[in-house]
Amino acid sequence: MNKNMISIVILAAGKGSRMNSSKAKVLHTISGKPMLYHIIKAARKISDDVTVVVAHQKEVVETLMHSYFNDINFVVQDTENFPGTGGAMKNVSTKNEKILVLNGDMPLVTPHSLEVFLQNDNDIMMSIFNLQNPNGYGRVIIKNKQVKRIVEQKDASASELLVTTVNAGIYAFSKDVLDKYIPLLNNENAQKEYYLTDIISMAKADGLNIIPLLVDEEYFKGVNSKKDLSSAEEIMQERIKTRWMESGVTMQLPSTIYIDEGVVFEGECTVENGCRITGNTLIKESHIKAHSVIEDSIVKNSDVGPLAHLRPASHIEDSHVGNFVEVKKSTLKGVKAGHLSYIGDATVDEGTNIGAGVITCNYDGINKHKTVIGKNVFIGSDSQLIAPVTLEDNVMIAAGTTVRSGKINSGELALSSAKLRVIKDFYYKFFSNK
Ligand code: UD1
Ligand code: MG
Repeated sequence: MNKNMISIVILAAGKGSRMNSSKAKVLHTISGKPMLYHIIKAARKISDDVTVVVAHQKEVVETLMHSYFNDINFVVQDTENFPGTGGAMKNVSTKNEKILVLNGDMPLVTPHSLEVFLQNDNDIMMSIFNLQNPNGYGRVIIKNKQVKRIVEQKDASASELLVTTVNAGIYAFSKDVLDKYIPLLNNENAQKEYYLTDIISMAKADGLNIIPLLVDEEYFKGVNSKKDLSSAEEIMQERIKTRWMESGVTMQLPSTIYIDEGVVFEGECTVENGCRITGNTLIKESHIKAHSVIEDSIVKNSDVGPLAHLRPASHIEDSHVGNFVEVKKSTLKGVKAGHLSYIGDATVDEGTNIGAGVITCNYDGINKHKTVIGKNVFIGSDSQLIAPVTLEDNVMIAAGTTVRSGKINSGELALSSAKLRVIKDFYYKFFSNK
């Protein structure tokens, strides 16, 4: 595709008051990434001239987007004097003669869904969809098959509110149209804002051709509230999971599984019901059992769970990590940790067995310390390893041992459990006076 055909402007300066949140609306996440990220990603695929209009929390928005993309332009809106989607277009300048304007709150757009807007030579192309419940959207007033104007919900009369054809919020304009009409917008409406949508009635009055394009809400849904956010999330999750199942991942009860956009599967993998896999996790040739949570980790040739928790920077290879095992910032290669364990800031080598209830005590209240465990180490159940600690290859730790900071050398057994005392008839004496 020729990416020089069209410039794209994404409106992302609004507060998003209906979200009831201190966070800028476009930064609320869908499948682990800000809404604005998803839109820019789609826009970048069809244009090399992408401008994002910012104002509310502009430093945070810009910094975050720069961490993902290095080739987008930012323009600051003067929201004080020119609030509204029309005001957002005031300072924008673009490279190309055709300009696609997108709202920053439609995270479900895809490059494919935007392509239809590229193939036209009309002055104005706008997008509509028909909804049973048009609540929140601008209503599109059509007479004799001609678009007359767009009326915002807050300005609509009782009869206009019943209109179910709504403005989806994507427009393709020619540069001339924007240059002419943006300066003519006014704020004489219920919200005292400069509405981009008013261009439609002005252009119509001047006899310009306005083409309404029927689009699918699945791609252009506007997110204005937390409820909308959750509906968009469901659609995005459906897409992500379908894509991975099509490429060979087995998912049991996928409706109960959550997978972030940055997660990658390789080879033959199975994910059982109730799992949550987030960040830039890579899972290769592995089986993730029910109700496990994996965050920003690598899992290769392993089985994890049920009910395991791999926290960020865990690297699990050729290993078995079982139920109620929590791993954080640790590398396990060829290891068995079957039950009830915490392994943090540790490296554990081949052939090592970690018994039930083994804890790496990695935090002394001020600093985190490392645990290094060699090959073929056998750590008995209910042992604590107080870091920094090193267990060399071929070490045994007896059940119930506390290993204080230091090193256990190859071939050694460490045991610290107290000698067992047995007191005859103690039980009966203890309870006889109660
Ligand atoms: C807008 C449309 C409405 C359409 C709906 C589709 C207008 C006036 N209304 O309404 O017809 O049905 O989208 O989803 O355009 N923004 C700015 N600067 C501002 C205000 C908003 O950049 O001063 C940005 C927001 O960050 C947001 C986008 O523009 O990403 C749309 O704003 P929003 O307040 O969500 O408009 P809607 O009420 O949804
Ligand atoms: Mg909106």
